[in-house]
Amino acid sequence: MKRRNFIKKASVTGLGLVAVSSAFTSCDETLEKKEASIVTSKPTTPLVIATWDTPLAVETAAKVLQNGGSALDAVEQGCRIEEANEEGQSVGKGGLPDREGDVTLDACIMNDKGDYGAVLGVKNIMHVISVARKVMEDTPHVMLVAEGAEKFAVSNGFKRENLLTAAAKKAWEAWKIKSEYKPIINIENHDTIGMLAIDKNGNISGACTTSGLAYKMAGRVGDSPIIGGGLFVDNEIGGASATGLGEEVLKTVGSFLIVELMRQGKSPQEACEIAIGRIVNKPGKDFKNFQVGYIAVNKQGETGAYSIHEWFSYNLFKDGDNKNIKSDYFNKV
Ligand code: GLY
Repeated sequence: MKRRNFIKKASVTGLGLVAVSSAFTSCDETLEKKEASIVTSKPTTPLVIATWDTPLAVETAAKVLQNGGSALDAVEQGCRIEEANEEGQSVGKGGLPDREGDVTLDACIMNDKGDYGAVLGVKNIMHVISVARKVMEDTPHVMLVAEGAEKFAVSNGFKRENLLTAAAKKAWEAWKIKSEYKPIINIENHDTIGMLAIDKNGNISGACTTSGLAYKMAGRVGDSPIIGGGLFVDNEIGGASATGLGEEVLKTVGSFLIVELMRQGKSPQEACEIAIGRIVNKPGKDFKNFQVGYIAVNKQGETGAYSIHEWFSYNLFKDGDNKNIKSDYFNKV
């Protein structure tokens, strides 16, 4: 049976992607690379896509690209805008704290070579996306956590500062009265900026930064800084990023899944829809009280987005236009 037909048949008969992947040898991996390069045509650049209504972050990233900068510089600079935006209560300074009142940040970044850097549970440092980049570029490691990450940041010139703003402290004090921990589906509770960009050379990079779930347990880390969860980039295929309840993204390795589906020929839109399907179609899964949203871009510059519930949107900079677009979603009842 020809490989393409097998893949088609496998997906129709419900065989999982894992089974499909494991069925092939390294010889097939070579074939896979050839397939990827056959479908590659030059995308319209610059292109930037980011979760939620993040026009300034996307505009900043687009400017980097328009000035000839790399996709890596673009996603870093774009994410820094949201990290410094004190109004946003889900990323960087102004992020809502954990249940003990500490703001802890998670971030990761991937370049077009497939390199990855991440920091998890970092206090007192605003631009964790830049710390993640330093981990990727200046250490032999891919992840630093908590105090170690903070010390590394400070030793690299990052400034220690209080990330808990008066507004976030007030919200936390109000929450403490009942201390109810319920992830709520609405736009105010959105979290995480995930951003993907394609530069003038057609190279793709991605970044993801968050303060995580509001009032999370101390020490809790979600999907955002985890490779394949909150972010995955394969420069031959495309990239994907996630927002929403990190536990559900991690259990399905959502961003990696989307990129692998694109590798098998799915469009970014189809891939995002299948990844949401992996969550909501689990037997007995009650998805009414949590949200997950994905964005994706392929090497040709086609984009996709899909969420479980309404209210997820994304910003797309393409053909010189920066637009906020409402995502399609699963739960239409
Ligand atoms: N998606 C962000 C988090 O769950 O922490």
